[in-house]
Formats: sequence, C-alpha cells, structure tokens
Amino acid sequence: MKKLYIETVGCQMNVLDSEMVVASLRRRGFELSRDLESADVLLFNTCSVREQAENKTYSALGRLRSFKSKNPDKIIGVMGCMAQKDQKLVFDRAPFVDLVVGPGQLAKIPELIDEISAGNGKQLAVGLGRTAGSVDEIRRSHETFDPLRDPAMRPTPFQAYLRIQIGCDKFCTYCVVPNTRGPEQGRPPQQIIEEAKLLAEQGCLEIILLGQTVNSYKFRDGGKTTRLSDLLHQLHEIDGLKRLKFVTNYPKDMTDDLLQAVRDLPKCSPYLHVPAQSGSNPMLKKMKRGYTIEEYREMFGRIQATLPDAAVTSDFIVGFSGETDEDFQLTYELVKECRFKNSFIFKYSERPGTKAVDLYPDDVPHDVKQWRNNELLELQNKISEELNHKLLGQRVEVLVEGPSEHAKKEHGDAVLEQSGPVQLVGRTPCDRIVVFEGNTRLTGQIVPLMIYEIAPHTLFGAVATTHVSSSPLTMLGA
Ligand code: SAH
Ligand code: SF4
Ligand code: F3S
Repeated sequence: MKKLYIETVGCQMNVLDSEMVVASLRRRGFELSRDLESADVLLFNTCSVREQAENKTYSALGRLRSFKSKNPDKIIGVMGCMAQKDQKLVFDRAPFVDLVVGPGQLAKIPELIDEISAGNGKQLAVGLGRTAGSVDEIRRSHETFDPLRDPAMRPTPFQAYLRIQIGCDKFCTYCVVPNTRGPEQGRPPQQIIEEAKLLAEQGCLEIILLGQTVNSYKFRDGGKTTRLSDLLHQLHEIDGLKRLKFVTNYPKDMTDDLLQAVRDLPKCSPYLHVPAQSGSNPMLKKMKRGYTIEEYREMFGRIQATLPDAAVTSDFIVGFSGETDEDFQLTYELVKECRFKNSFIFKYSERPGTKAVDLYPDDVPHDVKQWRNNELLELQNKISEELNHKLLGQRVEVLVEGPSEHAKKEHGDAVLEQSGPVQLVGRTPCDRIVVFEGNTRLTGQIVPLMIYEIAPHTLFGAVATTHVSSSPLTMLGA
C-alpha cells in the first residue's frame, strides 16, 4: 500500500477539499500516514489569504529540500489557493515540488500522480484567470468535485461540511479569494440534497453548509430560483440530521427570509458569522464591501429582532490602507455595541493580484496594526467572557466531537480505549466549545451538560443527568 501525508491550512473549504482528495487517493489504494518520512506522496493544501500563511507553507516546503534529494521518488505536491495564485512560481521557489494543483483541478490529482510516477515530469493544473476566457470556460475551470466524495471515508462520521457554493464575485479590494477560487457558482439544489441524504444515511448529525458568501447562494433553473432559505427548508426534512449551520454570511445578503428560516426551523443553529471587517465608512468603501456601517447596524438589528438569542460573530481587518485612529475607534465602538460572541481579527496583509495593490498603499506601520489588533482582541475577549457568563449554571446540549487535545496528549493513541472518563470536547448549537469529563463512547452523540465554569473561548461542563429518584418504590415503577 502506498502512503499519503497531507497538511491542510486555511478555511473550511480547504478542510473539505483535503477530505475529498484523501478519499479519491484511498480509492486508488493509498492509506494515510501521519509522518512525512514514511509517506510516498506528500500534499500541502495551502491558503493565500494573508502573506504569513504563504510564508509558513514555503518554509515547510523548504524543510523538505534535503528530504527530497535523499528520496527522489517521493512525490511532493502543492494544492489549493496558493497553487492557483502562484502557479509556476511554486516550482521556482521550491524546485523539488513535483505537482501544483488549483482548487478547481483537485479531481485530477490521482492521474497527475500517475503521470509523475510514470516519469513524465512535473505536473501543473490550475484554473483560468478571471479574464482568461469566456465566462463558461472560466467557470468550468473552477469546478468542484464534491459529488465524487465518498461518505464512507469521512474522518468524522457525525459531522460534515457540505459545499453549496464555489468561488466569490464580491471582489473586496483586499482579498485574493475571487482569484484563487474563481467565479461564484451555486451548486444545483438537487445535488446538495442528495449529498445531504447520503451523509444522513451514514450517521451524520450535523451539516455545515459552506460558501464564501453562503447567504448569497442562488440557483436559477428555468423560472425558479432557489435561495439558501429554500435549501434550509428542504434539508430540514431529512431524517437523521439534527443540526444545520452555514458559513460565511455577507452582510448585504442577510435577508429576512433567511433569518425567519433559522427562527422557524428547529434544526438550524442560531449561529451567524457575518463579518463586518470595519466600523468606518471610508474604510468599508475602500474595501468595496458594498454596505455602509449604518446598513450593517440595520442588518444587525434585524438579526436581533428575529433571533434574539443568536450568537453573532464577525471578522475584522485592522490597519487597512489609510486607516486612521478615528477609523479604528469606530471599529472599536462597533464591537462594543454589537457585542459579538466572537471576532476573528486580522492585520491587513497586502496581496498580489488584488485591487488594493493598485489603488491603495499598505501604509499603516506594522506596530500600529499590531497595537490595534491587540486592543480589539482584548475588548472582544472581555465581551466573549461576559457573554459566556450568562451560561453559568445553564443546561446546554453539545454534539460531542471527541477527546480534547489535552486528553490526546495525555493518552496518545490509546485515548479511545480508555475505560474511565477522559476530557472530551463538544459544541453547542451556538458554536461554543465545552470541555467536560466523559466516556469516549459519547463521541458523536448529543449530550446535555451543565455549565459550571467559563473562560473567554471555552466553557466547562458536567454531564447533566436527569434526576431519578433512587427510592425502591420508584424503581418498582410505583
Ligand atoms: N468570504 C468570507 C471570508 C474570506 S477570508 C467573507 O467574506 O467574510 C476570511 C477573512 O480573512 C476575511 O473575512 C477577512 O477578515 C480576512 N482577510 C481577507 N483578506 C485579507 C487580507 N488581505 N489581509 C488581512 N485579512 C484578510
Ligand atoms: Fe473575499 Fe470579500 Fe469574497 Fe469574502 S466576500 S471571499 S472577503 S472577496
Ligand atoms: Fe485561504 Fe483559499 Fe480559504 S485563500 S481562506 S484557503 S478560500
């Protein structure tokens, strides 16, 4: 049996892509290997969203230089967004790489590996640039191969990502994703529903629908348009599924029909990731986000009105071109006012090929970006902790994901064989992580917990047992 080693960075799209590549190679007789040394094929699934992510990948590749010269038969591949963005440049920067494959060409990986093994040299397969052909040609070159997914080979049987949308057409000026993932395309509803049914039959309890702007999802068939709210209604009917989530939302497309669907469908988790990016209008305009901060507030108000208990999370970029102290202050105020459950905060990183490179200088000094990042993070952590406080003493239902990192470290490979309780992690419908003690057999089940302690990003709980009287009369059923 040949061995495959795969490393994945980036967003959930990449996690799903890696899963599909692993499944397609397993079908060709590969098995997964956890260490580089013993692998025959080494794949790196990459992200280009910030320079730091790319630098890390290039240094990881750099460390393989001598490994490859000692083992020339090993195949090293770079896939994902950086493969699409850098293309041949990957071979220039890391000459020992054999394979470069964009996110739209992943289905070709098995045959490209065969080509390399047959001695036919380095292989490159990437999608067309956004102006390099007809709309149809460009679209086809950014197709996804989700339908080939084999649920039986999924790493986590009770949870699954399901892509409903490929690419992005929003072209925020700072962002590489519309280039690396190509044009926005909604997958046909029929395909999505079939895939979800298959997943449910395989025991999947939770499905997380994926799209860069998932709530902009639209599929037109003749005169009929299917939106995300329609999909949720259809998915809700599937037996066995217990939880539905979707990421990431685009503020401008957060329509009432969607909020009402989340309110009315019990399987939909009241969790909405709706990145604001900035609290300042001049910044939002330069970012080309397509909304003003007044419009964001209006949307936020509608979420609160329809879903008062929803957990809303956001992303922010600090230090975008020309961001003044006043601009940053407005972002700070927005976080204070909206009290997001959590925010992911990023320092602006200039990305080749984006509009911002031509239009706006990356002129905020690094230490200012760092300071703003720290300030905002500190505020967000305080808010997250305060919001978590409300859950103290409350009962929550978690989907148990398995042993915690701590338990894995403590028990190593034997963690699943422990007869006594170990530290487990579960997730609430609001996407909060809860750590608790329990038997590993609880993995993949929905379990009630009582929360007894909190930290900004973690809750601590204990399995809540329904009170059963132990008096003999009750035991006899009297
Ligand atoms: N499609 C999603 C997120 C895509 S990337 C959305 O539109 O919300 C995830 C996050 O990375 C973005 O929300 C943004 O906050 C951040 N990001 C994207 N490009 C960036 C850049 N050039 N520098 C720093 N952060 C960036
Ligand atoms: Fe990037 Fe904007 Fe598209 Fe999100 S919506 S992927 S930030 S271009
Ligand atoms: Fe990164 Fe590509 Fe996702 S650039 S964030 S892996 S879509």
